[in-house]
Amino acid sequence: MSRRYYIAGNWKMHKTRSEAVELAKALVDGLKDGKHKYLAAPSFTALEAVGAVVKGTNVRLGAQDVAAEEQGAHTGEVSVLMLKDLGVQTIILGHSERRHTYKEDDALVNKKVKLALKHGFEVILCVGETLEERENGQAEVVCESQIIWGLAGVPKDALANVVIAYEPVWAIGTGKTATPDDADAIHAYIRKVVSRLYGADAAENIVIQYGGSVKPENVAQLMSKENIDGALVGGASLKADAFLPIAKFA
Ligand code: 13P
Repeated sequence: MSRRYYIAGNWKMHKTRSEAVELAKALVDGLKDGKHKYLAAPSFTALEAVGAVVKGTNVRLGAQDVAAEEQGAHTGEVSVLMLKDLGVQTIILGHSERRHTYKEDDALVNKKVKLALKHGFEVILCVGETLEERENGQAEVVCESQIIWGLAGVPKDALANVVIAYEPVWAIGTGKTATPDDADAIHAYIRKVVSRLYGADAAENIVIQYGGSVKPENVAQLMSKENIDGALVGGASLKADAFLPIAKFA
């Protein structure tokens, strides 16, 4: 198996530039000897400052979203060209907060995914069901449909730059985590969907992160599961003393 653990911090709408730089410095220092793949995704306003800290280190620079168009009259949006200019390497797309609070649908997410891949970015495509969907037995079908539509038109050779993050909406910021077995079952299902779309080798190689209340106390158990290849961490990524033990789980 060639998959490597990938631990990412999604800082969401937190931290001024100076706070972000302080955290980035602590991560770079603490992860110098880290064995996994790492990402820090600050808000747009802190990308340049954090980029200067992580440049040339083993911590990648990530953005939390991007516009679906390259440029033009799109007030308030930030384009792939601007992110590239700042040295961003990875873009998180389809996060449930974008889907639910800002009403991004699969068609919009798909447009962003294709544009980001076209410009050479790595994409972390987030999928996941709400509590209601889970209780109705729809967890698998919701994730499946978000993957099919999110990756529509993405050719197999671009898949090496795609990471999938399974983030059950009910586990985000709630302190509730999917049990390692429940998460692994969905991850296995996601791998099956990828296999159907792109073949068994692509499915074997694709990295599937879990996100939703990942903490130092539960990371090792989650990562011990066959189909869980990393974590997309929200709240616990905001403090080095919580993120570092997650990122360096044994
Ligand atoms: P929490 O780790 O705060 O639950 O957030 C997860 C998340 O949404 C990461 O993208």
